[in-house]
Amino acid sequence: MWNDLRKDLKFYRYYFKEFLLFSILQLLIVLAFQGSLNNLLIIIPLVLIINFSAIVYLAKKRRKELAEVESIINNIRNNQYDHPDEIILSENLSALEQAIKQMFIKSKNDIEYMRKLQRVRSEFIANVSHELRTPIFAIQGYIETLLNGAIDDSRVNKTFLEKAAHHTNNLSNLLNDLINISMIESGEMQMSFRYFDLAPYINSIIEEMKYLADEKNITLTVSSVRDGLQVFGDKERLKQVLINLIQNAIKYTEKGGVKIVVEEEKKFVTIRVKDTGIGIPEDQLGRIFERFYRVDKARSRAVGGTGLGLSIVKHIVEAHDSRVEVKSTVGVGSEFSFKLKK
Ligand SMILES: Nc1ncnc2c1ncn2[C@@H]1O[C@H](COP(=O)(O)OP(=O)(O)OP(=O)(O)O)[C@@H](O)[C@H]1O
Ligand SMILES: [Mg+2]
Repeated sequence: MWNDLRKDLKFYRYYFKEFLLFSILQLLIVLAFQGSLNNLLIIIPLVLIINFSAIVYLAKKRRKELAEVESIINNIRNNQYDHPDEIILSENLSALEQAIKQMFIKSKNDIEYMRKLQRVRSEFIANVSHELRTPIFAIQGYIETLLNGAIDDSRVNKTFLEKAAHHTNNLSNLLNDLINISMIESGEMQMSFRYFDLAPYINSIIEEMKYLADEKNITLTVSSVRDGLQVFGDKERLKQVLINLIQNAIKYTEKGGVKIVVEEEKKFVTIRVKDTGIGIPEDQLGRIFERFYRVDKARSRAVGGTGLGLSIVKHIVEAHDSRVEVKSTVGVGSEFSFKLKK
């Protein structure tokens, strides 16, 4: 109890100025009404005692309130709350209670977000290292075998060099994709939007990619695009989108073909890349746009995929205020589409 009183008195010194001010005011009032200095020897100590008691009482109340707030803050710091409703203050502090609850919710969300970011980052580094290891080990293996004598064996030396070159190619594709992703995510990717003619643009991309379809004996065609139809976007980045989608369509199609369909609406143009390939199971459709996600890892890697293509596609299309839609049926085929402004 003495301890408490000592604390109250210590706390009271913060209100000493107010104490003096009130006391002087009250004495002046008494003086004004009484008009003489009679009884002042009684009045002065009386005023001082009453004011001192009042201020000590208020200081005590305030100290208790602050102790309540302090204990809540300590509990938050020691992670003792799981839910904001566990934070309870006295009724006269309800506004402060609401503010603390909101702060608690915000910092909880921030921490959750940071943890998620950290997890994504670690996963990304693990994935990158894993993807880099595969081609580097392969190249290392072929070169060492060649150095250990295979270089003089005309039956294998060319094949080994070709395989090493193939993996070097994969490595360079992977690095390009990674550079793209890091540019997109750091906001460094410069976009340059303008209107351009769609028909010659798509035809030239098809020309460039035709050899890939020919190699697999499948068709690559485009529906007729109205002459003079213009769309608005970044030509170079959209080319990356179309190449990625067409490459996927060819990669995951064994028979039939790939068709680019352009549909003109009033304000938009929809571009669809349709294939008659292996398709994607419905439960995986939501995940294929994640970085490094592949439906069938072994199969995708065998055809040189790292699972970065669609995440780049998604970012670029979203930078055009649009979104990539996908429809697919296993064993029948897939269709990826997005809209562009006219
Ligand atoms: N047209 C398609 N048909 C069937 N599966 C597809 C098709 N497009 C994408 N996928 C599936 O989605 C996954 C992710 O595609 P994404 O383009 O991101 O990666 P990738 O083609 O494996 O590798 P990368 O594009 O980086 O070379 C693929 O691994 C594949 O399983
Ligand atoms: Mg791909």
